[in-house]
Amino acid sequence: MTTRYRVEYALKSHRRDQFIEWIKGLLAVPFVLYSQPHGVFEGQGMSSLSETREEAHRRYSEILRDVEVMIDDHIAMQNDLENPFPSKLKLLVPSIGPFFTRLPLEAAFKFQDRKRYISSRRFVSPSFNDVRLILNSAQMMAVTTYGTLQLATFDGDVTLYDDGQSLEPSSPVVPRLLDLLRKNVKIGIVTAAGYTTADRYYARLHGLLDALADSADLTPAQKQSLVIMGGEANYLFAFSPSSPHLLEPVARERWLTPEMAAWDERDIAQVLDVAEAALRDCIKTLNLPATLMRKDRAVGIVPFPPDTRIPRESLEETVLVVQKTLELSPAGRARRVPFCAFNGGRDVFVDIGDKSWGVTVCQRWFSRGGVPGGIIKGDNTLHVGDQFLSAGANDFRARSVGTTAWIASPAETVELLDELAELMGKKMS
Ligand code: IMP
Ligand code: MG
Repeated sequence: MTTRYRVEYALKSHRRDQFIEWIKGLLAVPFVLYSQPHGVFEGQGMSSLSETREEAHRRYSEILRDVEVMIDDHIAMQNDLENPFPSKLKLLVPSIGPFFTRLPLEAAFKFQDRKRYISSRRFVSPSFNDVRLILNSAQMMAVTTYGTLQLATFDGDVTLYDDGQSLEPSSPVVPRLLDLLRKNVKIGIVTAAGYTTADRYYARLHGLLDALADSADLTPAQKQSLVIMGGEANYLFAFSPSSPHLLEPVARERWLTPEMAAWDERDIAQVLDVAEAALRDCIKTLNLPATLMRKDRAVGIVPFPPDTRIPRESLEETVLVVQKTLELSPAGRARRVPFCAFNGGRDVFVDIGDKSWGVTVCQRWFSRGGVPGGIIKGDNTLHVGDQFLSAGANDFRARSVGTTAWIASPAETVELLDELAELMGKKMS
């Protein structure tokens, strides 16, 4: 239900994605001019519904083609190291980042319009979710058309399973992940959930791990193509049919990047100390029904008693307070170790490292033994996650190292994987 509360909530700047809002604004104009006034007055001197729909479809397509061309121009400028000027897109949407591929937005719009009947709507304008799904489809088309997808990484909670749940054998995500492995795509599960032992990850992911172990048609090499990167970028486990819980912990020396190897334990402790103090402050100031949880590479607050819910506003306030406190602290200002503060929906965590490092480790891990051309590149990588707001979200950081898709539920992940499989199938045939 859209309460006044929810409407106001969506207006907060940290809850908005500038690029999506900007596209939504562009599409609102033809919606008002061509769709909306018709309402239900068909046959009373107005053009027919099908004419209206065609006109709206044509206008929406044109706008998305224009944005597509603007992104091409942005990519040309981002790749020209001599060019000191911002692109037109950068001027219009200052928060825009680098693109790893061009985005066929017009084709993606046509695809989503067939599914969602966006142009047929007379009362509801193209929405945030419409635009988000158009961008996802464009990204799926791009990673299969302009290059080859080599690595797919997935967030855990909300992406593969519902928040706080686990990947059960009956989940429709499982056969789709196996299908990606069958097509020789490597898979990394890059989750914030930070555990030091295999049994805890087995508990969360047993549906996938058991199915992989039991699969008769996947080759040993394809089975080796799954890793779990836990705690954002802190614990690596490789699939291993002979190990307890089907996972083998991989020692840090084997996978830390040179930059990560330089993170000093004292700096790590300092960041976590500052974060812990800020979290304790929030528990007191906001009187949160929560308790503190300190781990070796993370610190967080979780609801206490366990079945209570910390109000959404309190979670967000806490993330923003901790983020600011850390940024302004000597440890944060020194920038010697990266950290990631995020709102997990029911809890707040600050982790050492972030998903850009987690995905980078996967890109390097699967290239060991010498992949021609070195590590897997950003345009051959896709990260799927649910947290892409710039403040207080953890998947957002993955955008700096690869292409991404922003889903809102495990069911959407399934749809996305079906779209991807169809595009990959088309390419192969
Ligand atoms: P993700 O969606 O897979 O990134 O998982 C995020 C969730 O993992 C958080 O909301 C927490 O509930 C849970 N979690 C468990 N341990 C940790 C940790 O060490 N750091 C961050 N999140 C954790
Ligand atoms: Mg998540």
